[in-house]
Order: sequence, then C-alpha cells, then structure tokens
Amino acid sequence: MSNDPSNSAPDAEGAAANKTLERVPWGATFRGDVEPDYVGPPTLDPYGEGGDLEAFFWGNQDGDLIYKWHHYLPVYNRLLETFRGTNVRFLEIGVFCGGSLAMWRDFLGADATIFGIDINKRCAMFDGGAATVRIGSQVDTAFLDRVVDEMGGVDVIIDDGSHQSDHIRITLAHLFPKLADRGLYIVEDTHAAYWDRFGGGLHDERSFVNDVKQLIDDMHHRYHEGEISHPALAKHLFAIHQYDSMTVLEKRTRMAPPRSSMIGVDRAGVFDQTVSAGHGEN
Ligand SMILES: C[S@@+](CC[C@H](N)C(=O)[O-])C[C@H]1O[C@@H](n2cnc3c(N)ncnc32)[C@H](O)[C@@H]1O
Repeated sequence: MSNDPSNSAPDAEGAAANKTLERVPWGATFRGDVEPDYVGPPTLDPYGEGGDLEAFFWGNQDGDLIYKWHHYLPVYNRLLETFRGTNVRFLEIGVFCGGSLAMWRDFLGADATIFGIDINKRCAMFDGGAATVRIGSQVDTAFLDRVVDEMGGVDVIIDDGSHQSDHIRITLAHLFPKLADRGLYIVEDTHAAYWDRFGGGLHDERSFVNDVKQLIDDMHHRYHEGEISHPALAKHLFAIHQYDSMTVLEKRTRMAPPRSSMIGVDRAGVFDQTVSAGHGEN
C-alpha cells in the first residue's frame, strides 16, 4: 500500500520483463491522475484483495498472455465463485492471446464447458487447450447460435471483443435471451463507449453506456409507463452492476414481479402516524 503517486507510474521495463502490458487507451481520454489522499494499490500491483484469479494473473509471466484491467479480477473472483467446480457453460468473446481462457479454466475447474470466440483466425491455435475456440464475429448472429448450440446453452458470457458500442448492443440483444436462468452477462471495457473511435461519446446515443442507463429504466418498467428500450432484456433483468468499465447483468427467467410486505407489530404507532400524515406507503 502506498499513497506515493510515483508508485503508480508504469514501469515499462519491468512490465516488459514480466510480459505484462500496461493498458494504454488508444488515442483516448484517460485521466490517470491520483488523488492526493489516495490510499490503495499502486497501478502495477495486485489489488491485494486475495483470490485465485489475482494469484493466477500475477503469476502468469510464462503463460499465454492475458489482458485484463487489474480491478476486474477481485470482482470476477466474487461473481464467479458460485460457478467454481460446477459444469457451468462459460463463453468469452475475445480470445486474443489465449491466456484468459487458461485463467478461467484454472479458476472454474475441469467440469466447466469453456468456449472462446474471436474474429482473428490465429486464435484457432488455442482450440482444444484450456477451452474450445471458434472463429467468427460477435455480430454474426448465426455464428453465435451455432456456438451456443454446441455449448448446450450458456450460463456466463463475457464480452471482451471489439468494444464497439454497436457490436456490444447487437451481441447482447441476441445472446441475453439465450442466457440460462441466474446467468451472468458481463461487458468489459465499457470506458470505450466514451470514445468516438469505438462508436461512442459522453451522453452520445450511440454509446453502450447510454444503453446501460436505459436498462436501469427498463429494469424498473413496472413502475413507469414509458417506453421499454430493450424489450429482449427488460423482463429478465434481476440486477445491473456497473463497476468502473465493467457492466454485469444478472438474469432471472422466473422472476415474480417484486412485492413488499409489512410483517410484525407496529408498537410505536409509526404506521398510523405515517398514513394519517399522508406520507403513504410505497
Ligand atoms: C481485448 S482482446 C481480448 C482479451 C482477452 N479476453 C484477454 O482477457 O486476454 C479483444 C479481442 O477481440 C477480438 N475481436 C475484435 N472484434 C471482434 C469481433 N467482431 N468478434 C469477435 N472477436 C472480435 C480481437 O481479435 C481480440 O483478440
């Protein structure tokens, strides 16, 4: 732990020696400044929250290259814990250098069905290693159908593909309905939705972050009479978690409309007072 901003400066030599890459946004805005009272891990160190994913990532110097923002790892560790050791069906869009598939395999275990897809034909070399790899585009819906059929369904999807907002939107609209009950749909690197080069911008209607804002309204469609922007998702959205650059959607297929109840005795007479004062209930 340190609040010395110099600790956050990328050590290019050290990073290269470790075969890790410091993520540098391409031609994009990134305020990498550190608050003067910041107390936390230096940029190039683990978050130190423990967890096997962090341990795997930082120990991967000789493994196939993995490309993740550091703070995703403890989040994934928490989110994916319930799937460990199960026969979860797990799809990552964006294979790149193959290392993340090895990391998921190590974490999820031998019984998991793990698929990776990528538009880059070179990624076929990772097929049959830690995972099954298929080559195609995340916006080719017929291809996505074939992949999900081959997987026998899907429980967890990570979109770490092109990061183009219109691609993310197409893939999500197509795959979310295929996701199993209690499944997770995760979109990485949503900061790209603020960048023109990735078909986005701040408050830009094209931006995927704008979709996430609409999804919050869609998830609450029972409480307003406005339009539902993403009908394929609205009724099965149990939760939306927005981390820095990472959107997590929790799906529930057999979701009863939310209800509230009052159970117990109002010994202080607060209920009567509240109702008579016109505060009402919700
Ligand atoms: C950020 S990398 C993936 C990193 C990898 N998941 C990891 O954690 O190490 C993005 C990958 O998405 C792939 N990609 C780009 N456009 C795509 C598309 N339309 N469909 C599928 N994959 C795409 C790229 O070829 C690249 O390998």
